[in-house]
Amino acid sequence: MRHDHLITSKQLTRGDIETILDRAAEIDADPSAVADRHTNTLLGLLFFEPSTRTKMSFETAMKRLGGDVVDMGSVESSSVKKGETLADTVRVIEGYTDALVLRHPKQGSATMASEFVDVPLVNAGDGAGHHPSQTMLDLYTIRENAGLDDLTIGIMGDLKYGRTVHSLAHALTNFDAQQHFISPESLRLPREVVYDLHQEDGGAGIREHESLEEVLPSLDVLYVTRIQRERFPDEQEYQKVAGEYQIGSETLEAAGDDLTIMHPLPRVDEIAPEIDETDHAAYFDQAHNGVPVRMALLDLLLSDDGAADRLGGGSDE
Ligand code: NCD
Repeated sequence: MRHDHLITSKQLTRGDIETILDRAAEIDADPSAVADRHTNTLLGLLFFEPSTRTKMSFETAMKRLGGDVVDMGSVESSSVKKGETLADTVRVIEGYTDALVLRHPKQGSATMASEFVDVPLVNAGDGAGHHPSQTMLDLYTIRENAGLDDLTIGIMGDLKYGRTVHSLAHALTNFDAQQHFISPESLRLPREVVYDLHQEDGGAGIREHESLEEVLPSLDVLYVTRIQRERFPDEQEYQKVAGEYQIGSETLEAAGDDLTIMHPLPRVDEIAPEIDETDHAAYFDQAHNGVPVRMALLDLLLSDDGAADRLGGGSDE
């Protein structure tokens, strides 16, 4: 597999992550400097699952770099409806474009698709697997609000099916963060993810909890996630955990003044709207950071000055 596909955050070293975040900060400070950097470049958007932020921020990012996008549109209106395989779809669309962004309900689909294409492919979410570009904007937001050194983070909600969680947790092992995972028993991190995290970090920074109270006062960042209803095999199982963790002003009485609250969005009922106006809320800035961060990613993946080789060059993931 080529190293300039971005499939999981596991393939990125701390150096790769810093390269992306530093480039995003440069672009954020002066977006007009890169407005013509990728003219005549086309990004193919292949979204087999709903998306607002990821798709629109990739589209904005490509256009702000001077390029454009071609969009497969909904599954309903594409040849997927006629039974076309993912491998055939990506092989055809890579012939039209310079890079691809793929979101698909099946875990492992991005790895499989990347084996059929030569243009860079970014995994924008593969089922309950990974979502590495979201992780880059999450890390950018953490770095701006709390810093990535000596970080104590609580990651709460659907840790079983939440792909943003899996990608973020892996990336944070590069920064020796203390990670507290808070969820109902039935939505704990998959054991294989815990095993991998222990391999990467020696287990020192990983703790699992059922209650937020015991860790809240120690947190710099609380990363809240939506229960991924669409991934439950059984609606009754979803109903058992729906609404279990909700953050309101009373929850935050025990929190530090500097606590940063993040959420990949969309939220359902995990964070009460009253939190939005507080200094804790970083989730709308987080979503806005998707544009400079994805501009940086696309710039690195599309540049022929060798920058792409720096990403994930040390791994065959
Ligand atoms: C997330 C996703 O699709 O995994 N959304 C996003 O990309 N910002 C989180 C979610 O859907 O809950």
